[in-house]
Amino acid sequence: MGNVKNIVLVGFMGAGKTSVGKLLADMARWSYIDTDDLVEEAAGKTISEIFAEDGEPAFRELETRVLQSLIDKRRSVIATGGGIVLKKENRDLIKQIGVSFYLKASPATIYQRIKNETHRPLLQVDNPQKKIEEILSQRADIYERMEVVIDTDGLTVKKIAAAIANIVSQSL
Ligand code: S3P
Repeated sequence: MGNVKNIVLVGFMGAGKTSVGKLLADMARWSYIDTDDLVEEAAGKTISEIFAEDGEPAFRELETRVLQSLIDKRRSVIATGGGIVLKKENRDLIKQIGVSFYLKASPATIYQRIKNETHRPLLQVDNPQKKIEEILSQRADIYERMEVVIDTDGLTVKKIAAAIANIVSQSL
């Protein structure tokens, strides 16, 4: 996988960060890390509980602490929570951790992937489709600033993972 320290997957909920990250880690024999899991471990409760009981700012604070704990990692594929890039501090940490890939997906693709899920507090609203469009348009500029942008619409998890492996292995 070239000279890359770690791979950091960024993008909206439902963009495929978890499934792509797990497959990519398997293919490369690298470790798989999920910042949402680490936040839940640190807090001792689920993300929905953190949002409900402590609020989004507390959740964002935990995300920063989790990123700080990953600075010395090597050979890891790190899937991040969809809003992690909102804080400049987190974007700077991501740069130190590894190469960032934005898994870009259209609102329609995202909606198809998440419509039957209930564990994402930001999308537990009457009109999730509209909410996806709203949040995505607020974040689009930030996401596009990642080092590599992969357009995932119409691509399988396997194809996305292969595309990332290919880019990384060429960066010797
Ligand atoms: C969030 C995305 C979620 C999780 C939290 C907030 C967001 O992660 O971190 O619900 O702000 O987009 P996934 O992108 O892994 O679903």
